[in-house]
Amino acid sequence: MKIIMLGAPGAGKGTQAKKIAEKYSIPHISTGDIFRANIKNGTELGQKAKTYMDQGLLVPDELVVDLVVDRVNQDDCVNGYVLDGFPRTIPQAEALDKALKELGQKIDYAINVEVPDENIVNRMSGRRACVDCGATYHIAYAPTSKEGICDKCGGGLILRDDDKPETVLKRLGVYHEQTQPLIDYYTEAGILKEVDGTIDINDVFAEIVKILGE
Ligand code: AP5
Ligand code: MG
Ligand code: ZN
Repeated sequence: MKIIMLGAPGAGKGTQAKKIAEKYSIPHISTGDIFRANIKNGTELGQKAKTYMDQGLLVPDELVVDLVVDRVNQDDCVNGYVLDGFPRTIPQAEALDKALKELGQKIDYAINVEVPDENIVNRMSGRRACVDCGATYHIAYAPTSKEGICDKCGGGLILRDDDKPETVLKRLGVYHEQTQPLIDYYTEAGILKEVDGTIDINDVFAEIVKILGE
């Protein structure tokens, strides 16, 4: 099962992609997480990506596409994967389609997690991420059992650099301009599925399971 998660920054793509990956035993591939891991490890890719990410801008397509195409060609992807944060532009979507076509494969579902802009800034200011394992929480909606400490690995929690309100607004603008056109793209491809992202995290997941099957 090959799945793409679509949605605005903070819509809950990562939250739902993790749950999908666990239930259906497929890898969760988040380009944002890959870039953040590269930044943390001080790689050249990380240094390049950071200058864009800190401004709320997209990393250029040429730095993203090959990375994802290589990743989906790895052995653990034979039974599928859930892509989170990719594609994000029409050229990225076209490049992915082309690469998959060469392998005789295609995406099965593009799931759009819908959340209005008004809800987003509030959501992002409460998000906390683990510095060690990248697990994501929310101070009100998905709290850890011990404040400031990751439930999964005991690591410390931080507010992401790009979650400051002014950067979130910039990311929302970039989303509407460059990523939202993908909704039409995947509607035309006949694989778009919409879920309401404003309801409780587990209820959103139940909607997704209805689409993907038990
Ligand atoms: P990326 O990391 O992908 O960020 P994003 O798309 O802006 O999305 P987020 O991770 O912020 O949100 P999410 O939808 O995953 O929400 P989450 O589940 O965490 O990308 C970061 C940057 O990297 C980009 O700006 C860009 O620069 C670069 N980049 C990455 N991929 C790229 C690409 N392909 N091309 C070019 N550049 C790229 O949830 C948010 C919060 O809400 C959490 O606290 C969560 O607990 C909470 N929450 C989730 N669901 C619910 C719910 N139903 N109710 C209440 N709270 C909820
Ligand atoms: Mg995410
Ligand atoms: Zn952790």
